[in-house]
Amino acid sequence: MTGSHIVVDRLSKRYDTSTGAVQALTDVSLSVGPREFCTVIGPSGCGKSTLLAMIGGLLGPDEGSIVIDGRRVAGPDPRRVAMVFQDPGLFPWLTALDNVAFGLELQGIPRAERRRIAADLLGPLGLREFALKYPRELSGGMRQRVAIARALAIDSGIVLMDEPFGALDEQTRFLMGEWLLDVWTRARKTVVFVTHSLQEALALSTRVVVMTARPGRIKSVIDLPLPYPRDLESPEIASFRAKLWGELREESLKTMNQ
Ligand SMILES: Nc1ncnc2c1ncn2[C@@H]1O[C@H](COP(=O)(O)OP(=O)(O)O)[C@@H](O)[C@H]1O
Ligand SMILES: [Mg+2]
Repeated sequence: MTGSHIVVDRLSKRYDTSTGAVQALTDVSLSVGPREFCTVIGPSGCGKSTLLAMIGGLLGPDEGSIVIDGRRVAGPDPRRVAMVFQDPGLFPWLTALDNVAFGLELQGIPRAERRRIAADLLGPLGLREFALKYPRELSGGMRQRVAIARALAIDSGIVLMDEPFGALDEQTRFLMGEWLLDVWTRARKTVVFVTHSLQEALALSTRVVVMTARPGRIKSVIDLPLPYPRDLESPEIASFRAKLWGELREESLKTMNQ
């Protein structure tokens, strides 16, 4: 399965809590084409995770809909949408290889075949020698790569990533970005990626969606029709950076003063 098409139409979401209602998203519409790398950026609390959870079918909308390849999302379906979070969430009792193979069990693939697919994924990710290690024996960056490999192993057309490198140091983040780009180019999936990092957004995305401070709306959509790998010091990227930061700064200031 390669790159699915996601259509988010007039989505709104409110959380009702004991201290009152929180309007997390208001009237969000967005179309992400097959094989796009769409980055969602916005101040903290603006509803990025809520949006991703809804695309992944983990949360239902109050209003609006999400349609993937012509079919409405009605609940989680790992065969269509794989997810990666900031916490890699690996099973500590399984090796790296078996963590990657895990999702394939749900697809009814026999054990030997599962392990072959998982091994084929771990090799190019620089984890060949670590296949039989347990999560506690791996570095943070390696664990996150295993989590991403696990998401990629599933034959879904979409991978959603919610700040997958958020817990890593800057140098590791940078290398993980390079690595992800390489993986994405080969996997031909549609990616929706949430980050706080302008650098990551500029290095990776075909399109960047900037959200407003809560209640999250789409403030602007900026296309980045530039080849990879990108030179982040180039004048072209510098002008996109200035544009993005201009949009983001305004919303971040609102959040800071809320
Ligand atoms: N389960 C929940 N119950 C109540 N409020 C929530 C819940 N999840 C998120 N929120 C609130 O909704 C808003 C958006 O949250 P979230 O989607 O996590 O934002 P982001 O990922 O952009 O930081 C925030 O104000 C947050 O506090
Ligand atoms: Mg979040």
